[in-house]
Amino acid sequence: MAISGKTAVYGIIADPIGHVRGPTLFNPLFEKLGMDAAMVPFHVTATSLSRAVAGFRAIESLRGWLVTNPHKFAMFHLCDQVDASGTRLQAVNVVRRNTDDGRLIGGNYDGAGFINGLRHDGIEPKGKDVLMLGAGGAAYAIAFALAEAGVRRLTIANRTRANAETLAVTTRKFFPGFDVDVGDAVAGDQDLIVNTTSAGLKSDDPLPLDVAALKSATTVVDIIMNPEMTRLLTLAKDRGCRIHLGRHMLDSQFPLLARHLGVPIS
Ligand code: ATR
Repeated sequence: MAISGKTAVYGIIADPIGHVRGPTLFNPLFEKLGMDAAMVPFHVTATSLSRAVAGFRAIESLRGWLVTNPHKFAMFHLCDQVDASGTRLQAVNVVRRNTDDGRLIGGNYDGAGFINGLRHDGIEPKGKDVLMLGAGGAAYAIAFALAEAGVRRLTIANRTRANAETLAVTTRKFFPGFDVDVGDAVAGDQDLIVNTTSAGLKSDDPLPLDVAALKSATTVVDIIMNPEMTRLLTLAKDRGCRIHLGRHMLDSQFPLLARHLGVPIS
């Protein structure tokens, strides 16, 4: 698609930037929809973010941008308005620049992408007993989304227990009455086990879960995308468990991000 003077510009901000998938996903979509639009990578460092955003505000042809590491938290404070999910997380992963008034509207679809990914794969979290491994940034988005999706009970296990406790307290604050507590990374009678830790990115990482009592009735989810089959997933599959891959979270988030950016996707 040729870029002209009328082309609407979208961006993605990150540091490092080389690995981002936004342009590869969005530009074919613009083409398919016959939109005169292009997504380009903006390599912005953490120290330059506020200056970059001040510049973005002044660019009339800029319609919005995706936000990835390390900018999700800092970008939250630079928006004029943020949706409920982003406000709970104090982090955004997409910003629309309103064409009429230039206001910056942030959103966060990490949690919704995770839940939609499960549902598209035929896994309904509502009413389930869930063990979540990890208490980092991704874990916050997923814990809140699981609470919103109506899981029966959430147990959070983390290498540093204090981080799991903070996440449990925060989740309870936003979802009073929700059954969430801290526990051990031990498989048992759970319906769903979700790994949000980075253990599994490297082939020699320790398993984030004690799998001795893992049952075939348990569905095991890993949000790690690369490798697609982590040691945990391989082991779970061998035990006869249903597994759910990391890429679903991003794939299912893509239409939500597009809609936030005003792309007329069905
Ligand atoms: P992200 O934003 O992608 O979730 P993060 O905030 O750095 O990443 O969180 C990483 C998570 O993986 C944390 O829960 C971390 O545990 P700690 O709180 O103890 O640091 C967890 N983690 C990282 N390496 C791990 C390992 N080898 N075994 C178990 N948990 C690990």
